[in-house]
Amino acid sequence: MSTRVALEVFRYRPEESEEPTFQTYEVDCPDDWVLLDALNHIKNEIDGTLSFRWSCRMGVCGSCGMNVNGDPVLTCATYCKDFADGPVRIEPLAHFPVIRDLVVDSTDFMDKIESVKPWIIREDEKPLEEGEYLQSPGELLDFKQYTLCINCMLCYAACPIYSRHNVFAGPAALAIGQRYNLDSRDEGEEDRRDVIFGPEGVWECTFVGDCTRVCPKHVDPAGAIQQAKARHLAWWAKKVLMPWGTK
Ligand code: SF4
Ligand code: FES
Repeated sequence: MSTRVALEVFRYRPEESEEPTFQTYEVDCPDDWVLLDALNHIKNEIDGTLSFRWSCRMGVCGSCGMNVNGDPVLTCATYCKDFADGPVRIEPLAHFPVIRDLVVDSTDFMDKIESVKPWIIREDEKPLEEGEYLQSPGELLDFKQYTLCINCMLCYAACPIYSRHNVFAGPAALAIGQRYNLDSRDEGEEDRRDVIFGPEGVWECTFVGDCTRVCPKHVDPAGAIQQAKARHLAWWAKKVLMPWGTK
């Protein structure tokens, strides 16, 4: 079985026109095709000028995110047959500058991820011969959910705060910062505090929850942000009531 689907695809080729347009392609999509398959069919068989990113075709690399009928999705995880009843509009991920067609500039996103220092920070590294830093299954569970992020940027395309105010650190960066702060092997929470709890950090989030709704990996960045707020308030109360206790 196949379904004929009309794909209305955002086109932006700055060397030809400063204004973006939409181009419609009619594609016969077998039932097991995802939207990424249809885009690859267009690129290979109909119009080789179409530009978009993808790599793994299995929901792992995080590079095929696009806005589909207004919602950010992974196009390798969205079936064509679900759009049999009407046209499907495919646009670049919202809230990022468009470089060409469906390709966006991810520099701001990458800078934000880097700003939370997404690596284990130790005050003192123990010698290699003393072995690894052991962790119990319970300690792993404290943060494991947040390790599932694939940096697909869907949560930024869905976030109403980032849409109006793109200095906001944003859902994935804050969830990843929380991932390291909760890791029993890490001692870097103070190094991340200015970014995560500063003016563009967790307090900007109004808990709309669209980031969690669209996240294809169930990371729950909205939950991570609320959890980080509670953790910071506990730290702050301890600092005020027992200033010697935070040293
Ligand atoms: S938190 Fe979810 S939606 Fe956001 S970048 Fe990570 S995997 Fe993608
Ligand atoms: S192509 Fe890798 S996540 Fe879709």
